[in-house]
Amino acid sequence: MSTIEYVKNFIKDPNIASITPTSQRGVREVCSKMDLSKKVVIVEYGPATGVFTNYLLEHITPDSMVIAIELNENFVDYLKKNVKDSRLKVHHDSAENIIDIVRSYGLKKVDYVISGIPFSLMDEDTREDVVKRTSHVIRKDGKFLLYQTFFQKDEHLKVHLEDYFSKANDQYFMRNIPPLRLYEAIK
Ligand SMILES: C[S@@+](CC[C@H](N)C(=O)[O-])C[C@H]1O[C@@H](n2cnc3c(N)ncnc32)[C@H](O)[C@@H]1O
Repeated sequence: MSTIEYVKNFIKDPNIASITPTSQRGVREVCSKMDLSKKVVIVEYGPATGVFTNYLLEHITPDSMVIAIELNENFVDYLKKNVKDSRLKVHHDSAENIIDIVRSYGLKKVDYVISGIPFSLMDEDTREDVVKRTSHVIRKDGKFLLYQTFFQKDEHLKVHLEDYFSKANDQYFMRNIPPLRLYEAIK
């Protein structure tokens, strides 16, 4: 998708939250926290044009799977037309429905969930609910990896990660426009 098309979607849909896709350096930094050398199931919230999706498909094993959940219909259509890979399953849905989506594949748990959806725009109950449901489907020692804009407040996300995961690390990452706050929550 061209930059102009992406920006047009951004103007129409506040849930997109970032005016540019994540930088390749940002993608590599987040993905370095996963072990992609083994068979894995990864859920991706908010893939948009697929900067993370494409990186994952290039690096996962042939028997691994990526389940992408995207709220914006234009991005869902774009991914379905442009990313042809049988390991990718794209859902036009909300992250809130992760449990049913994962179960629809006959799975109880997944290895990793990656997310760029804007927690600061959600109401308090939804934020906690998404973190709680996500923790429910991640296997022991699996991870919930999140990238948010750098001004993210602790009450938007970190407090909930600390409640539902055994460990929640965070860091600032400057090599992105805008800079990011990254979280690594370990089950
Ligand atoms: C900041 S963009 C991230 C896009 C892309 N992954 C990247 O790194 O450039 C956030 C994306 O999350 C999607 N989104 C927002 N809320 C969502 C929700 N509740 N469930 C699934 N996707 C959501 C938006 O439509 C948008 O595509």
